[in-house]
Amino acid sequence: KRVAVLVSGNGSNLQALVEASREPAHCMYADVALVISNKPDAYALKRAEAAGIPALVMNITRSFGAMVIGSIQARPAGGARVLVDNFASALDFTRRMPLLNNKRVFNHKEYSSREEFDRAVSGALETHRIDLVCLAGYMRILSAEFVEKWKGRLVNIHPSLLPRHPGLHAARQCLAAGDADSGCTVHFVDAGVDTGPIITQERVPVLKDDTEESLTERIHQAEHRAYPRALRLLATGRVRLSSEGEVLFHS
Ligand code: GRF
Repeated sequence: KRVAVLVSGNGSNLQALVEASREPAHCMYADVALVISNKPDAYALKRAEAAGIPALVMNITRSFGAMVIGSIQARPAGGARVLVDNFASALDFTRRMPLLNNKRVFNHKEYSSREEFDRAVSGALETHRIDLVCLAGYMRILSAEFVEKWKGRLVNIHPSLLPRHPGLHAARQCLAAGDADSGCTVHFVDAGVDTGPIITQERVPVLKDDTEESLTERIHQAEHRAYPRALRLLATGRVRLSSEGEVLFHS
């Protein structure tokens, strides 16, 4: 299966998926063939570059009524026009452009609506003949159209034992609730936020002295085991989503 990973940030889960898919025992099942980031300065892009995986940066124009706010245009050598969130990342991005361009495919596009953006992402996935899409810290809500189109082929990882603590700051929510345990969940994506049918979970304890950082780190370690495990199940056809929306396991 050809796998795309959608990212916005650090990309440690991307890294875990790439490494797992390259293990000799599994490389015939899954190939991370594309990375898409909606943030030009995501560290995940450096990881993609180091792994030799084609990466695309796709940005959405932040528009508010007729006004475009919070964006600045960088025009790196080569003429591509890029919208980035702030001046610091514009400078940093411009600095890194030549190197990035030498190494791999790197497209920059702007889109003005969520639907238009998601259609472009879908188009890129199809161009790269992607079978499975893994969201890994992708900080955008997907349009209903996109979710429907990729249903059963679109999965996400979330840093809690869903259905507990959906949404942002899951570790903080867990500590505030006084939970004895936490963990991570890999699930098929449906129309809700962190609500889709669950493929696998991994539990970690909450320790007495935990801070948000220490708990987040422990959850991350679990994620780096759980996501590759889910990818293997999916890529080998041992798990799939039924037309009724249930997760089916085959031995
Ligand atoms: C992970 O905790 C994941 O569960 C959440 O975003 C974080 C991404 O981390 N959806 P990384 O970018 O993979 O390091």
